[in-house]
Amino acid sequence: MKKVLALLVALMMVGVMGTATAADKLVVGTNAEFAPFEYIGDDGKIAGFDIELIDAIMKLVGVEYEVISIEFDALLPALASGQINLSISGMTINEERAQNVLFSEPYFNASQKLMVVEGSAITCAADLKEGMKIGVQMGTTGDLYATDNLPAEVLRYNKILDAILDMKNGRLDAVMTDAAPSDYYAKAAGGLTVLPEELSEEKYGIAVKLDNTELIEKINAALAQLVEDGTYETIHAKYFTPAEE
Ligand code: ARG
Repeated sequence: MKKVLALLVALMMVGVMGTATAADKLVVGTNAEFAPFEYIGDDGKIAGFDIELIDAIMKLVGVEYEVISIEFDALLPALASGQINLSISGMTINEERAQNVLFSEPYFNASQKLMVVEGSAITCAADLKEGMKIGVQMGTTGDLYATDNLPAEVLRYNKILDAILDMKNGRLDAVMTDAAPSDYYAKAAGGLTVLPEELSEEKYGIAVKLDNTELIEKINAALAQLVEDGTYETIHAKYFTPAEE
């Protein structure tokens, strides 16, 4: 009888611990369509600068986590509904978003850039006239910028790569996205030029649910430590040449 009881207790403990770990596992949301920050690697796994950074952060915070990739414009609603606990996705900190989520300290400087096909007559944003078409990723700051500032028609894509392919096929005059992904995809796709003009000044932040001050404080402390101990620089050097930031 004692043995049976002991076995039962042991089984219950395994059960309890099993649930505890499952519940402790945080879900990190990203949109793996934004190389070199987040993309699907050759092995089918989500990889990139943000992914390595969040791994280092989570190790310091001391929690288990998994990364899932969803549409970029679904990240903020997913945070609000609790489907994900935090998001790292090359996401620019802006006032509108900061009303709905809590951002970490900035971890990367960025700007919007225009990409055109090689030999295009468009050499700066002012060359984009009414009747022309510009591709952006839906819900991004590139979308906002183009919509608010450019006379060209804005076409919104789920994936920036699809916009780039449409431009290569002659369906768009330009594509707007952040500087580092512009360089990355222009090189990968070939036959494209990234225009030098920097159209905005942006900073990326990690986001959590609006009331989760406890988690954002831990993330900020970890981020500061990683900058201090050189880990941030090591990860940065893997993905960017020093001139890029
Ligand atoms: N920085 C831009 C923004 O916040 C683009 C981010 C896109 N990120 C991504 N993983 N697709 O809107």
